[in-house]
Amino acid sequence: MNIVEAIEKRKSVRGFLDQEIPREVIDKILQISSRAPSGSNTQPWKVYVISGEFKRNFSDNFIQYRIDYPKDETPQYQYYPTKWREPYLGRRRATGWGLYGILGIQKGDREGAFKQQLKNYNFFGAPVGIFFTIDSDMEIGSWLDIGMFIQNVMLVSRNFGLETCPQAAWVYHHQKVRELLPIPENETLVCGMAIGYENKEEVANQFITGRESTSVFAKFFGYE
Ligand SMILES: Cc1cc2nc3c(=O)[nH]c(=O)nc-3n(C[C@H](O)[C@H](O)[C@H](O)COP(=O)(O)O)c2cc1C
Repeated sequence: MNIVEAIEKRKSVRGFLDQEIPREVIDKILQISSRAPSGSNTQPWKVYVISGEFKRNFSDNFIQYRIDYPKDETPQYQYYPTKWREPYLGRRRATGWGLYGILGIQKGDREGAFKQQLKNYNFFGAPVGIFFTIDSDMEIGSWLDIGMFIQNVMLVSRNFGLETCPQAAWVYHHQKVRELLPIPENETLVCGMAIGYENKEEVANQFITGRESTSVFAKFFGYE
């Protein structure tokens, strides 16, 4: 697949077909993705892949846990700013309401929003779930590196006809993730990811996000 097409057509998919992915395919995607650059070639990424019966039990257990304990817990790291401001607040709202709008979830419909949120914990029906971790003593530079690796996973997946959804939703419940998966305490859960074949009939997948133009985020110097 052409790299520009892989980037431009990538989107977060929130509904997958119930179609297994062979282990060799996931292994290949990860191996290729590990060509990502990293400071001094430190390759700080660690990966946990779950599938089949293991993934089914994992998700069933997790969804029941979220129903029993619906409150967000303390994340292991702060993803978002503690105080939202423009332009980020506006972009965030546009994304949230855009997705909920397509799904028919009205403002104030907490039950509808929670139901949609819960789908994260089944990896939106994907046959495979991935968790990315990093040793907790690694610094911000290494977080750049793992970000590049994760982006590679999303793009390389597309070459194999697979789509993805990166998921910070797990980060708020990393202790529960650790109960079900042997992730050592000295590793930080960076994010999860759903990976599978897109269910084109899923309404949520019609949602396409916009991007600012370069005139908003780039400054050029030395051009006439
Ligand atoms: C690290 C990371 C975590 C994310 N976590 C979630 C998540 O938990 N649930 C979800 O539905 N989408 C999640 N997203 C998807 C974003 O909402 C999405 O990337 C953004 O709205 C842009 O849309 P696009 O990916 O379709 O281009 C996450 C994205 C990133 C990069």
